[in-house]
Amino acid sequence: MAPFFSTKSISIAILILGMLISNQEAYGHGCYKSIISFGDSLSDTGNLFHIYPPDKPPESGRWPYGETFFKHPTGLYSDGRLIVDIIAQSLGLPFLEPFIGGKNTNASSRNFSKGVNFAVAGATALNLSFLERSGIFNPLTNVFLGTQLDCFKEFFATFCKTNPDCKTFLQTSLILVGEIGGNEYNYAFVQGTDIELIESLLLQLSATSASRSKYELIKLGASTVTVLGNLPIGCAPYYLSYYENSDEKEYDRKTGCLNWLNGFSEHHNDLLQMELNCIRGLYPHATIIYGDYYNAAMRIYLSPNKFGFTSVFRACCGAGGPYNYNASALCSTPPATVCDDPSQYVSWDGIHFTEAAYRWIAQGLLEGPYTIPLIRTVCSLISRTSGPSEY
Ligand SMILES: *[C@@H]1O[C@H](CO)[C@@H](O)[C@H](O)[C@H]1NC(C)=O
Ligand SMILES: *[C@@H]1O[C@H](CO)[C@@H](O)[C@H](O)[C@H]1NC(C)=O
Ligand SMILES: *[C@@H]1O[C@H](CO)[C@@H](O)[C@H](O)[C@H]1NC(C)=O
Ligand SMILES: *[C@@H]1O[C@H](CO)[C@@H](O)[C@H](O)[C@H]1NC(C)=O
Repeated sequence: MAPFFSTKSISIAILILGMLISNQEAYGHGCYKSIISFGDSLSDTGNLFHIYPPDKPPESGRWPYGETFFKHPTGLYSDGRLIVDIIAQSLGLPFLEPFIGGKNTNASSRNFSKGVNFAVAGATALNLSFLERSGIFNPLTNVFLGTQLDCFKEFFATFCKTNPDCKTFLQTSLILVGEIGGNEYNYAFVQGTDIELIESLLLQLSATSASRSKYELIKLGASTVTVLGNLPIGCAPYYLSYYENSDEKEYDRKTGCLNWLNGFSEHHNDLLQMELNCIRGLYPHATIIYGDYYNAAMRIYLSPNKFGFTSVFRACCGAGGPYNYNASALCSTPPATVCDDPSQYVSWDGIHFTEAAYRWIAQGLLEGPYTIPLIRTVCSLISRTSGPSEY
């Protein structure tokens, strides 16, 4: 495509994006008073960074992570804000505080009344001993979803001691669970795990951990729980380079993504939604929202130019190879280098998205149509029922 042409479509896309973001900022204020988040690196706003020793930070604690928005690494796995940050801003809330503070953080001065984040990069949905028995190892952390829930319960008990209206806090919070479970696949697929075993994990994942978390949150008094599905992993440079092959039939003709891996994500999401339907039946007074990350991201892969992207499958930050992803030299590790303009790239480091892509995904969730039910219809329900606790 001729350069002048793409420049023009980019500036139009940026203009539209600007309008959408300002709309978002006007919309939704006061709807939810806080955000509580669980998940992995897609939503970790600093927990893993603070768990690691300061002299041995994870990738997200090293340059060029954070270069676009915060201008320095703060533990976010992107060049800028994550989906949770953009959702927080659009609701008129501050950036989501990681539950784990830094070494020099004064614990008693921390205030989570506007939200708290338990997501930890690398976390799985299933527990470690179970995964290890299946031959799947977590190289990053021993935190899984259950650990995050235990932290939340401890936090909430303490919070209730100093905040008598803590039930209202929980009721008026937008609770985000996930994406979680994607790491089971990220680890298993490259650790040579038997494909049939991975398929059996699909069922475990949707039936066990994910549901446990939602039951417990609702029992504690949560009224809105949003559960995010898996992404189209067949479009990620991480998977595209690992499964690179010359069989054209394996690739989707329209997008260039690996069909069977995307089919896998879709299967995961189908099972997850079935599980959510069960929970809706069991807890009719709670609102369970399904967040469709898959299709919110897929629309970018289907027409990248429309969204201002010129590079879809080459990561912005990496150490070469057809997808600019090299597992032995990840972004932030020499000889990896970073692209000049991350906003033209969908993928930041081969696994995570750029802020530019996250903004479109967040917009698709907030404005629709990528949540079931639509967040804005739920929102009006919340403001009607956010009076004194009825539980
Ligand atoms: C921590 O914060 C509290 C409340 O803001 C303050 O009273 C206390 O002096 C602080 N402690 C330190 C060591 O800074
Ligand atoms: C926490 O911050 C909120 C406003 O963001 C304020 O209303 C509340 O009093 C603060 N709580 C404490 C314990 O400082
Ligand atoms: C780990 O998960 C498995 C399967 O979900 C479960 O049967 C087991 O009790 C869990 N173990 C611990 C220690 O939580
Ligand atoms: C990946 O990076 C390692 C370490 O720098 C290097 O030895 C290797 O050749 C690279 N592989 C590719 C395919 O570029």
